[in-house]
Amino acid sequence: MYFGLVIELVYPEKIPSFQAIKVIKSEEFSMPTKIAAGNWKMNGTQANILELQSISTAADQLDCETIICPPATMLTMATRFSKKVLIGGQDCHSETAGAYTGDISAQMLVDAGASCVIVGHSERRKHHDENSEIVKAKANAAVAATLTPIICVGETLQQRKSGNAVAAVSSQLEESLPKSSKIIVAYEPIWAIGTGAIPSFKEICEMHDAIRALLFRTHGKNGQKISILYGGSVKSSNATEIFSATNVDGALVGGASLKSTDFVPIMQALSKS
Ligand code: 13P
Repeated sequence: MYFGLVIELVYPEKIPSFQAIKVIKSEEFSMPTKIAAGNWKMNGTQANILELQSISTAADQLDCETIICPPATMLTMATRFSKKVLIGGQDCHSETAGAYTGDISAQMLVDAGASCVIVGHSERRKHHDENSEIVKAKANAAVAATLTPIICVGETLQQRKSGNAVAAVSSQLEESLPKSSKIIVAYEPIWAIGTGAIPSFKEICEMHDAIRALLFRTHGKNGQKISILYGGSVKSSNATEIFSATNVDGALVGGASLKSTDFVPIMQALSKS
């Protein structure tokens, strides 16, 4: 998190005198937190705690927040073994409890030590038929349980090719957003997930700028503080360029977050950005 002191000229036509300068509280203009987040998806058993420990050791030295979202079976153990890494769930139900076999509530994630949860990942939207209305309900449930939801959005290849990517992602995000500004947004083009393909730097900038503008519209000045992550085939070889984009505040990484030797260089690139 950055802190800055902003001095606004109230009467710019006059020479700035002491009375003409309004000092705005630093936290009003704090910047988004830089976040390196790993989504382990359906990968990992107790043996992988060693990877988490290496990631945690590296995180201690770096100027960014690190989040790992392991499978639910590893949550409790993960929170015990990773002092410098925040632990998140990969999904939660919109209800607090009840007859929903196989599901996990936001409260249960908190109970297991999680501090955030991914909602609306394209793999959930696709394989579990989750639309943005469901994603919004899950995000609201997460917020109510004090978790930070990581809200995922992204366009299909067809939407990208037909020039509708920004419009598609904008409406998907607007329909998925909870009222709270204690959220993280992850832009993950579906066609870039696990494929090795990524949008051009210009396309990433254009999308992240559009998301920032939308967050200003929906959350006012708090929209500036919301971290916007890029996800989809992030590797150490492309991380530095991706992180140089103005409104890219970090990454949500799949495959390259499973091994500390792949993920730590991405964390380091973010820390330096
Ligand atoms: P990859 O980094 O494996 O492309 O996955 C991205 C992702 O889906 C993270 O949520």
